[in-house]
Amino acid sequence: MDRSFYSRSSLIINTIESTISGDRVFTGNQPDDFALAGLLRNTKTACLLGVGYGGAVRAMLAGDPSIELTLVDNDAALIEFTGNLFARSFPGVAFTSETADAGSHLREHPGCYDVICVDLYSAVGYPRMVLDVGFWHDVREALTENGRVVVNAWGLPEQLSPLAPPSPQHAVAQAMLAVWQDLSHLPCRRNTTFVAPALTPADLRPPVDDASTRLSYEDHLTLGLIRLRGASAPVLLRGGIGDAGQPAPTSRRAIDAEMHARWPGLVEAVTGRAEASADFRAALSERKLTDAATERLLLEGSPAASFAPCIASAKAQLGELSMAWYGEWLCDEWFRLKALDPDWFRMSALWQAVCMARTPLGAVWPWEARLYDMLSAELLDAGFADAGV
Ligand SMILES: C[S@@+](CC[C@H](N)C(=O)[O-])C[C@H]1O[C@@H](n2cnc3c(N)ncnc32)[C@H](O)[C@@H]1O
Repeated sequence: MDRSFYSRSSLIINTIESTISGDRVFTGNQPDDFALAGLLRNTKTACLLGVGYGGAVRAMLAGDPSIELTLVDNDAALIEFTGNLFARSFPGVAFTSETADAGSHLREHPGCYDVICVDLYSAVGYPRMVLDVGFWHDVREALTENGRVVVNAWGLPEQLSPLAPPSPQHAVAQAMLAVWQDLSHLPCRRNTTFVAPALTPADLRPPVDDASTRLSYEDHLTLGLIRLRGASAPVLLRGGIGDAGQPAPTSRRAIDAEMHARWPGLVEAVTGRAEASADFRAALSERKLTDAATERLLLEGSPAASFAPCIASAKAQLGELSMAWYGEWLCDEWFRLKALDPDWFRMSALWQAVCMARTPLGAVWPWEARLYDMLSAELLDAGFADAGV
């Protein structure tokens, strides 16, 4: 394996900006989805707006390391740190970087990028501009003719209907849909990845060269699942998400308040479908109760069905073991759960099991090897001939 994507040192960075681990490209967080940039056909140039410590850099290049990548952040110290970090730990990973405001950079680079990844927020919340239609016009103008934007929208978790207003994801989608006719959306716990214009399976290609020699077995399969997520992602159309009628929460405090306001509805939905006498804690700690509640919620088409994947995976990122059985349950019940709702299975249940396995902050789970074997078969079944490693 070419080690240039990996570091021999036992590097781990975990901040509000980025999670980076020297031994893996993907860490089970939303920036993993930015790998779509390197899987889109005809991508030669890409830009990352909002760099943090560079968590998304190797993900963006995983499908094609020859992409010309530009990193932009308005924090000079982060740009300098990231440059030094990569020079020391990943010297084979190439990019150029610039300290600039994202909006100014876009206006100075019309028609420059085949893909722009947008990941702009801070410890206190969203910069105002991400909700302005003018910003998304600037993004579109900075793209090449068939270029695409891939956006990280943080906010409400997927089991709490993040596209229902008032929510930051709804507000970002609405601003984007003023510029593009449609967009794809990929849930990832408290984040939603939006891609505009919407993806079709034909837009995505296998990784270039033999990625199984460039990437570790686990990263290679994770990249395959991200491709499958992109190809399966549901589409939102202009006019399809309704008006908010009130301002979206955009500060961390206001977003948390909206999450807490919606939480009792989730608890009621889950406990009502678990078993008589089951409380929410029991529904999260006993596999049998989770199974019963999830099946009923899936049959009803309720977004609350994502409660177990999201909570199990969120716990794992904190090193908590109380839902350690999640991956084993998924592998045991794979075909039954998939038959209940194939989209939920790929976009939430399977993706969050892989996120649990990829986080460098959690445990090594006894079910990991089985999960990757089953994922490999799933990708081959989906027609990804390069997935068998
Ligand atoms: C969540 S971090 C990005 C994480 C990164 N994409 C990764 O993969 O690790 C958000 C970044 O946006 C940057 N940022 C916020 N407002 C900005 C602006 N107006 N222009 C450029 N960068 C901005 C912050 O400095 C911060 O580094």
